[in-house]
Amino acid sequence: CGIIGYIGDRKACDVIVKGLKRLEYRGYDSVGIVTADGDKIEIRKGAGRIDELTEKLNFQEMRGNRGIGHTRWATHGVPNDTNAHPHTDCTGRIAVVHNGIIENFAELREELLRKGHTLRSDTDTEVIAHLIEEELKNAKNFEEAVRKALLRLKGSFALGIVYADEPDKIYVVRNESPLVLGIGKGETFAASDVPAFLEYTNKVVFLDDREYAVLTKDSWIVKNLDTGEVVEKQVQEIEWTLEMAEKAGYPHFMLKEIHEQPKAIRDAIHGNRGIISKVAEEIAGYDRVIFVAMGTSYHAALVGKYLFQRLAKRIPIVEEASEFRYEFEDLVDDGTLVIAITQSGETADTLAAMKLAKRKGAKVLAIVNVVGSMATRIADLTLYTHAGPEIGVAATKTYTTQLTVLTMLAIELARKLGTVDPEYLGELERGLELVPDLVEDVLTHEESLRELAEELKDKRDFFYIGRGAGFPTALEGALKLKEISYIHAEGLSAGELKHGPLALLEDGVPVVAINPSGKVFDKMVSNIEEARARGAMIISLSDREELSRVSDVLIKMPEVDELLSSIVYVVPLQILAYHLAVLRGNDPDKPRNLAKSVTVE
Ligand code: G6P
Repeated sequence: CGIIGYIGDRKACDVIVKGLKRLEYRGYDSVGIVTADGDKIEIRKGAGRIDELTEKLNFQEMRGNRGIGHTRWATHGVPNDTNAHPHTDCTGRIAVVHNGIIENFAELREELLRKGHTLRSDTDTEVIAHLIEEELKNAKNFEEAVRKALLRLKGSFALGIVYADEPDKIYVVRNESPLVLGIGKGETFAASDVPAFLEYTNKVVFLDDREYAVLTKDSWIVKNLDTGEVVEKQVQEIEWTLEMAEKAGYPHFMLKEIHEQPKAIRDAIHGNRGIISKVAEEIAGYDRVIFVAMGTSYHAALVGKYLFQRLAKRIPIVEEASEFRYEFEDLVDDGTLVIAITQSGETADTLAAMKLAKRKGAKVLAIVNVVGSMATRIADLTLYTHAGPEIGVAATKTYTTQLTVLTMLAIELARKLGTVDPEYLGELERGLELVPDLVEDVLTHEESLRELAEELKDKRDFFYIGRGAGFPTALEGALKLKEISYIHAEGLSAGELKHGPLALLEDGVPVVAINPSGKVFDKMVSNIEEARARGAMIISLSDREELSRVSDVLIKMPEVDELLSSIVYVVPLQILAYHLAVLRGNDPDKPRNLAKSVTVE
């Protein structure tokens, strides 16, 4: 989601509408604005894109010199007019916009309902306005009420708050969701990201986690959320152009999204923790499981199969949705569970497969990134990946978050079914929590991957090999390369190599071997030797140094449980594909002939 706040002498709505347009890449399913003129507060909001809503709701008529706008990317509650931000308390005098996920919102909502509050939306955000209202009954001032209310929230949040009875202030807060202040002359801004206000000022103050700021037109003060004490902050000058700023300084959305993965994975974990057990409960009774998906999501399904086999002792079938829909008509019934994986929730073949499954009485679970998309409307159950909007056509953070959700689901299923030692499941769960840090670590090696790309940029063919969960990683690595660098690449299970593809290997052909420590490590080494004997250039990904003996290049990976490795190991492959695309003069965000969401068969 994107937030933009303003206080100064300009018409707030003008600054906000412009800012929201610049933040649209952060979410675009609904938009809302609150402005305040003295103690009169006005809210206009709805589902849809900013241009469409500006026309429909006449944002430019809104009065007042202070206000906050929000462009939404739904996490709780489908995108509709009621769920659009801002949300207010019962009195309508406290307006809140929010970016993030409140983990304990269900219990807070219960408590507020018991205390007689009327909540109008399905969002986690609305509870914040009501909590502040509740705290205001006993607090000595509004600021204290805000602070006390926020101390009760678990999860991630960046917030903008306008209070009708404080005509010269707006409040913003940051905790695990970005927020930056813009310092102008006689005006102050706040936003999720710099481009929202860069037109007016390049002087910025970045808030850190658990800090809030009280803004007036010519002052700003930052305080610690937990102690209420003032925090000294530095004003920095930004030298980015608007276009650079929109991509947070990255040259392409794809690279930005690759770098967003640690946060996206964390959000996927937070966002599903509360419901994964219930979903596992509902599907535990099905021993016939079919995954359907296309493209990168299909590779996630292959990892899902492996996780379900190892942990839940289920033997799922994985079908491309385009095959399933014509072949499985007579093979699906009410004893079947179909798990559809789709980032967009709009892929035509995947939707058709889901509809067929429903018609045949199967239970359908969807794993989706876009809240309220068609897939979520067809499915009986939905798990969201919480990756935020993905603009680059080649899927990156939506893939690693799909894997995260599948891992959580398989662990929980194994727990319910008693198929694996619960102690090991606990260990895996703790290991998953650390995966974002491991991905962060891998991201620090970007420069050496770029150098490797330099070396490889004129190669004609690539082979990617892996076993176990390394096999789908090989497929995904090859797909990333094909999609954006236009180099021919094949992903293979390493065992298959000598049954044909080996004939294609000659001097210097790159073979990328995915080989984390685990059950099949030694087998992989034998396959690597086979390729090496034919003169292939071996690029190994492993945590084991000893692989350098058989490799031309070893991409050193952090140690990670084999079952979690597919999330971490795909990251260098994304980076490599990205740099190869750029070095060959391609636009990785918009590969030729491809589309982000394929809504035709
Ligand atoms: C397109 C995209 C791929 C994506 C596939 C499936 O081909 O370019 O990146 O993996 O569709 O999309 P879905 O939204 O169903 O995951």
